[in-house]
Amino acid sequence: MSATDVATVTLEIDGRELTVPKGTPLVLAAATAGVEIPIFCYEPRLGPAIGACRMCLVEVEGMPKLQAACTLTAGDGMKVHTRSASAAEGQEAVLEFILLNHPLDCPVCDKGGECPLQDLTYRYGPGNTRFHLNKRTYEKPLAISPLIALDRERCILCYRCTRFSQDVAEDEQLVARERGATSVIATFEDQPYRGRFSGNVIELCPVGALTSTEYRFKARPWEITNVPSVCALCPTGCNTWASVREGGVQRMISRNHPGVDEGWLCDKGRFAHVHMSAGDRYLQGLVRGPRGLEPATAEQLAETIARRLRHHATLHGPESIAVVASGEQSNEEAHAWAELVRVAGGGALVGNGFPGGGDWDALAPYAATIAELDRADLIVVSGEREVGDAAGVLELRVRQAVRRGARLLLVGSGGGDLDHVAGGRIAAGEIEAALRAAEHPVLIATEPAAVAAAAAVAHAAGLGGGPGGVLAVPEGPNERGLHALGYREDAAAVLKRAEDGTLQMLVVLGDADPLSRFPEPERWEAALQRCESVVASSLFPTPTALWAHVILPATAALEKDGTITNLEGRTQRLRPVLPAPAGVHPELAVLAAAGRHLGLELEASPSRAFGRVAEAAPLFAGLTWELIGETAPLASRRPTAAKAPRAAAPAAAPSGDGLRAVGRRPLFAGAAVARTERLAFQRSDEIVLARADALRLGIAEGAPVTVRHAGGTTSGAARLSRTLAPGAVRFAWDGAPVDGECTVEGQA
Ligand code: SF4
Ligand code: SF4
Ligand code: FES
Repeated sequence: MSATDVATVTLEIDGRELTVPKGTPLVLAAATAGVEIPIFCYEPRLGPAIGACRMCLVEVEGMPKLQAACTLTAGDGMKVHTRSASAAEGQEAVLEFILLNHPLDCPVCDKGGECPLQDLTYRYGPGNTRFHLNKRTYEKPLAISPLIALDRERCILCYRCTRFSQDVAEDEQLVARERGATSVIATFEDQPYRGRFSGNVIELCPVGALTSTEYRFKARPWEITNVPSVCALCPTGCNTWASVREGGVQRMISRNHPGVDEGWLCDKGRFAHVHMSAGDRYLQGLVRGPRGLEPATAEQLAETIARRLRHHATLHGPESIAVVASGEQSNEEAHAWAELVRVAGGGALVGNGFPGGGDWDALAPYAATIAELDRADLIVVSGEREVGDAAGVLELRVRQAVRRGARLLLVGSGGGDLDHVAGGRIAAGEIEAALRAAEHPVLIATEPAAVAAAAAVAHAAGLGGGPGGVLAVPEGPNERGLHALGYREDAAAVLKRAEDGTLQMLVVLGDADPLSRFPEPERWEAALQRCESVVASSLFPTPTALWAHVILPATAALEKDGTITNLEGRTQRLRPVLPAPAGVHPELAVLAAAGRHLGLELEASPSRAFGRVAEAAPLFAGLTWELIGETAPLASRRPTAAKAPRAAAPAAAPSGDGLRAVGRRPLFAGAAVARTERLAFQRSDEIVLARADALRLGIAEGAPVTVRHAGGTTSGAARLSRTLAPGAVRFAWDGAPVDGECTVEGQA
């Protein structure tokens, strides 16, 4: 037998003969033959089957009793009957047993209409009940967190939720308490279920026991329209369904893309969509006049932008104009801005405000895909920012790889969530040797400084031709697309030009506000004051918008039609789930109107604008609107490295023997999260200290502490860590990354 041959077995299910790979669970084998076996607890994404619910009972010839098809593997010569009289009797009996204590409150249950228990009872269950006693009741609903409600009496103890918590997110927060008939699902010590991925248990629950506090009683499945979209709140690009009813997005659920998210969402992607209707959203354009900012129509905005662009380019040349984009812009919007600036006379395009921002061209020959983590034997995570903070559900893929047997090494100070599954911590100088020693290594770079160094390390380790590569995480959701479209200028160079008076017009697009997110905000503020024209395009007021002469209200991702490109270079489609509010005009239309003032024909139609994008950069070559479709394929072309990437300067070693601040942006940060009240409890105010440092400073676990660092002051509760490197002080910081000396004080 050749190495590529897979051992197979041939069996018969309900009279149909089929051949499947050896080891296939019977449930899956039946599915390949088009035979459905009813299930509740079986869910391959949660790990091996546990056979908890017995819903999948089938008759196997030669076996004395009915068998659970999820825990049985397909065997050669097996003859299986899923609807024989005895199988049907077993399935009906299981449903009758499950329904002993399950309230028949489908008409008022949130799951009604999309409930596996309801559906399977209709198809496989008894037509009536023989049970006339009172059913078990519990206090309800229990808020297991501000996001999730638990109606315990509906729980059928399938353990999907606890297995997700323990075996997928590995946060160990959901547990089954008590035993046997009194067993109940609970959070550990009744604490709120905190974690980046808690909302997935709502989707996993096959009954209405775990429901979303946001969606409860909002809609019935037959009243909603599910629109396919992509989450644009981080660079992972998870695939989603937006459930729309009565002109509003009622919930976001996953739309499993095996290559991207495997059907998981983080809580930011699942719940933060409510920011779109926050009260402080810009609902009309504004242009500064003699009496301050005054309402402006789309045409007035377009005319003002075009006039100012032309004025500055003509009088002061291309050095006088810069566009700083956050990565929340679609490829089509970013391309339209780039074209406007080019036609006006030129200017700088900035797509990342941080020093060392990703050089994606240098990385391209070494690029890995997200799915490649499934085959990796070694994963090295480089960067102080945690994987789950930088790229949400990518953390779940890393954890899965480690459970499968991949070795995980971390580069950085430690003290983060992956420490407990990592095989150790290495220095930056040891990455190359580690990568060389592995057969299929993947290097994940989680922040701009690590991204800059990744290409050189990958090259030195010989990752160009063989398996393995680099997964680099950009700051902005669509930073990859922006970079391909020419947003490559260094923000520091633009700042210098602003300070020496050369820069006259600054366009700031989105949430990457220089005054709150970039290094040295004071210098940016002084520079902004010197600019003659500041244009801000944003959903909400930002510190920069206060200086703006033109405010172009932005559309939210769920209102956009267009494309964005995720961290692995996959270009996916955003769909306009809802129309933008009345006074907010699609940016493409405003920019096309501005183009007309400059004699430039821009496409206002997103599909045609994508045609221009596809021609503008090799990253999009060969892609069409139709090809992207709902499941965006990933072009797997890797260019060969033309020359060795430049080695990045080594990061400055911490000076002296004092404490060193490590402040990084958490997942639950940014304008959308700030406007999602339900997510407030997820924001951590922990200050993580190495145990030895805390003891030396006399700081106890949970004690209030204040850290003074280069970025400002951060206060919170001390968490003492055994895995954080001595000297490091880790905390959540929304602004530019903080590294450098700090002082820590315990508060009275
Ligand atoms: S709460 Fe839902 S997912 Fe969890 S064990 Fe009960 S039925 Fe299963
Ligand atoms: S991981 Fe990122 S893309 Fe995925 S749901 Fe979360 S915020 Fe959205
Ligand atoms: S699905 Fe097989 S025992 Fe639950």
